[in-house]
Amino acid sequence: MAEGPVLANVHFGREDAERDVSDGLLLRGGFLPNAAYRASVTGRKMLIIGRKGSGKSAICARLMADSEHYDSKVLVTPDEAAGEEVRRFELQGLPGDSAKALIWRYVFAVHAARHLVTHAKSTHGRKPDSLKALCRFLKQNDDLSDGRLGDRLAQGAKRLQTSLSLEAFGVKASMDMAQSPSEGTRAARQLEIVEQGVVRAFTELDCDSAHRPLLLMVDQLEQVWSAEPDSNSMVIGLLLAAKHAASLYGRSVRFLLFLRSDIHDSLSFGEGDKFHGDELRIAWTEQALRDLALARARASSRAELTPERLWREIFPETVQDEETPKFLFSRCLPRPRDAIQLLNLCQETAWLIHGRDHITEADVLQASRQFSAWKLKDLALEYLVAHPFLKHLFPLFQNTGYVVTRVALSSRFMSATETLHRLFPAYADALTLSGVIDILYGVGFLGVRRGNDVVFAGNDDLPAQPHETEFHVHPCFREALGATSAIDLRHYEPLLASDRIASGNISFAASATTALNRDDRLVRELIRSCHSILAQVGRAVGLAHDARDEITQQISRVLDDANGISAGDSSLDVDAHLLTTAHYFITLAAQLLASGLDETAGAGGVAHRIEEEARRLRRLAGGSYGSSGDSAGT
Ligand SMILES: Nc1ncnc2c1ncn2[C@@H]1O[C@H](COP(=O)(O)OP(=O)(O)OP(=O)(O)O)[C@@H](O)[C@H]1O
Ligand SMILES: [Mg+2]
Repeated sequence: MAEGPVLANVHFGREDAERDVSDGLLLRGGFLPNAAYRASVTGRKMLIIGRKGSGKSAICARLMADSEHYDSKVLVTPDEAAGEEVRRFELQGLPGDSAKALIWRYVFAVHAARHLVTHAKSTHGRKPDSLKALCRFLKQNDDLSDGRLGDRLAQGAKRLQTSLSLEAFGVKASMDMAQSPSEGTRAARQLEIVEQGVVRAFTELDCDSAHRPLLLMVDQLEQVWSAEPDSNSMVIGLLLAAKHAASLYGRSVRFLLFLRSDIHDSLSFGEGDKFHGDELRIAWTEQALRDLALARARASSRAELTPERLWREIFPETVQDEETPKFLFSRCLPRPRDAIQLLNLCQETAWLIHGRDHITEADVLQASRQFSAWKLKDLALEYLVAHPFLKHLFPLFQNTGYVVTRVALSSRFMSATETLHRLFPAYADALTLSGVIDILYGVGFLGVRRGNDVVFAGNDDLPAQPHETEFHVHPCFREALGATSAIDLRHYEPLLASDRIASGNISFAASATTALNRDDRLVRELIRSCHSILAQVGRAVGLAHDARDEITQQISRVLDDANGISAGDSSLDVDAHLLTTAHYFITLAAQLLASGLDETAGAGGVAHRIEEEARRLRRLAGGSYGSSGDSAGT
């Protein structure tokens, strides 16, 4: 074991799978087999969809590294040049998607052929005729076999558009293809010949039953994706090609495509419905992230860490009265990259910055503030292609409560619409109130209140419904937006000392008995007001917990002050205090109504109750102390 405190050696890994592999943690106990991984090894799914950082490349890396499930693997990761080739690829007489499918099919066939050439020798030790034909074909057509994918694609594309050398398969290109009515049909016919050549080699070698299939994976498509129609065509073509090739090569080749969810969700094509059974979306639960944290802490520190030791000794047991892992994982979007970043930030804040041997509550809070700022920026970047205007929607939620109703959002959105439409005229159709709510819900920025729960995208596929009116900003972004309390309520400032100093009021008790009696009565009335507001809040069961807590907290502060006065400070100007409190109540009620929460059962009642109490207190302080303040009229 390494020297020094355990915390010094704890590292939760790199944030991208590529570096996580080279640093060693991903393949040294830091990988957690999840549903997507199981689906990948069993071949149940062909299309693994996940958000940025959800672990697509990690599965690829894991599969590439282990020999438990597949003997032969090929990973295709298109770079700029390759993407450019596919995007530009067109064939006269064929629609865009089908043309792109052809070029991908060609890529698959060539990869399979190249695999077969080496595999036949090493695994089967023989070279049937079909294989000799493949060798000849590759020699004539894939002469850049060691070049970059982009260059090879460029070469393949050109040959598909003109003519491939198919003599290896007994076809005289110029003669046999001359009859083709269009460029598209000719390319398709040429490709079929190549594919049949590959199938024949697989069959003659009997790969189907002799051993496990070849695994062909495509990852990092996002590197070459833009919002252009050609880009969508490139991805649709890939899906069509993989489906075609999967049925063509049968058990000999297994295809796995890793696709970012924003890319997948932006696709729309007629055949789309046929892919649902092949799709699997990567999902992470809080428990899975806890397991990931423990596995990585163990692997990096090489210490015998139990969950108790990790979450009690290395991390503080609670943060702001919440269990630490709960606090942490509710403040990141449910994906390993976010979890790894936040956990590492906590470790670095404690160990590197403060030189501590364990993480304190203050370290976690400091780390989560920094993390929130990162994530707000990252969210805008993650969706820069799909929703380039996202960053410009954040101000709608800045420095306000994190609970936002449709009504409140509508008025805020109205004032921003003109600017948004001016900056992003091409997206004007999407930039409507409901369009924006859908997008913000879809990217995980807003959750929607359903019953007593707040649901964020990912847990529930149902988008925000028109009758749903209350939204919550995800805890991950609240610090960065300055939206850390549920509703935008002015905080009650304890008035005992400050108010007197500020107002310069000194009260002279003309007659000790009467003054004391009157003040006492007024304070009791104030206490009564607080209690009846609190009771009304208690009855507003339709109100979100957070909103109720927020109001309760403010009113309780007023109550604490009032109890403090009644306990002693006789020199306080109670009339002034009552009037100030009444003024605070009026502001509170107005803010509550403006928040739009009145729609959601109960908030209106609370606001009106607060107003009534404010009026009553004003009447009492204004001189009608002989009355209860309850009579009609202000
Ligand atoms: N199943 C897992 N077990 C352990 N660690 C994981 C797992 N999946 C992902 N990770 C880790 O989470 C981080 C992000 O994962 P990865 O780079 O694979 O995401 P991605 O989906 O490929 O993201 P991008 O779309 O940005 O490429 C990496 O550090 C990776 O090692
Ligand atoms: Mg990746």
